Amino acid sequence: METQRSARKNDTAESGSDLSEQIKAATKDNHVRAENTQLMLSYQKGQITLPQYKTRWYSPGGLCQVLLCSLYVIYRALEEELDRNCSHPAVAPIYFPQELARLETLERDLEHFLGSDWRDRVIVPAATQRYEQRLREIGRENPELLVAHAYTRYLGDLSGGQVLGKITQKSLGLSSREGLSFFSFPGVTSPHRFKQLYRGRMNSVELTEPERAAVLGEAVAAFELNIQVFDDLQKMLSVVAEAADQSEDGVPKARAPVLQVT
Ligand code: HEM
Repeated sequence: METQRSARKNDTAESGSDLSEQIKAATKDNHVRAENTQLMLSYQKGQITLPQYKTRWYSPGGLCQVLLCSLYVIYRALEEELDRNCSHPAVAPIYFPQELARLETLERDLEHFLGSDWRDRVIVPAATQRYEQRLREIGRENPELLVAHAYTRYLGDLSGGQVLGKITQKSLGLSSREGLSFFSFPGVTSPHRFKQLYRGRMNSVELTEPERAAVLGEAVAAFELNIQVFDDLQKMLSVVAEAADQSEDGVPKARAPVLQVT
C-alpha cells in the first residue's frame, strides 16, 4: 500500500498535474524517436540538398523543399481548423495567429524555392495526407484535440525548429532571410518567454478527465504522424536518388510509387 502510494506520488512529481507538464512527459520518448529519424539526423548534419541532376524531373528536389511541401499541407489543415474553431473553449486560450501562424510563411518559402507555379509542384507522401485527414477530422468532431497538435508543432518550431532554421541558412548558403520565413517568428520576441505563456494558456484549458487523457493520447499520435511523414519523405528521396543512380543519364525513369500530388 505504502509502495503504491509512493509510486503514485513519484508519477505526479515527474509529470505534475498541469497539462503542459503531462503532455511533455507523455511525449518524451516520441520526441527522442522523432529527433532520431534518419531525416532529422540528416537535417542536423546539414545534408538537406540532393544534387540537382538527380532530381531534375522531380520538383521539389532536396530534403528542405520536400519537407516544406509537407509542412505546407499540414499547417494549411492545422491553421484552417484552428481558425474555424477559434472560439471553442479549448482552442481560444491557445489561439495565437498573429504570433504563430505559419501558412503564409510556407507559401513565401515555397515560392522562393519552387517558383511562381509552386502550387502545381507541391508533392507530398501518403503519410502527410493521413496527417492532414486526421487534423480535418478532429477539427470537425473533437476540436479540443487541436491543443495536442498545436503544441506538437508550434512548441517544436520554437525549440529545435530554431536550430534547424540556422542549419538551413548555413547549408543552403542563404545570405538573406529569403526562403527562411518558416523558421522566423517576428511576433515572438523571446521564444523562451512565449513558450512559458503558451504553457500557462494550455494549463488554463478546462478539460474533463477523459478529455485530458484523449489530448495526451492525441499528442503521442501527433508525434507519430510526424515520424511517419519523415520516414515517408526519407523513402521518397531514397527512391529518387536510387532511380537516378541506376539510369544512364542521371534522370529517374519511373515515378516513385509513394509520391502523390496534392
Ligand atoms: C522541445 C530539440 C524535433 C517537438 C525541444 C527542445 C529542444 C528540441 C532542444 C527544448 C527542450 C526544453 O526546453 O526542455 C529538437 C531537435 C529536433 C527536434 C534537435 C530534431 C532535429 C522535434 C520534432 C517535433 C518536436 C520533429 C514534433 C514534431 C517539440 C516540442 C517541444 C520540443 C513539442 C516542447 C516540449 C515542451 O517544452 O513541452 N526540442 N527537437 N521536436 N520539441 Fe523538439
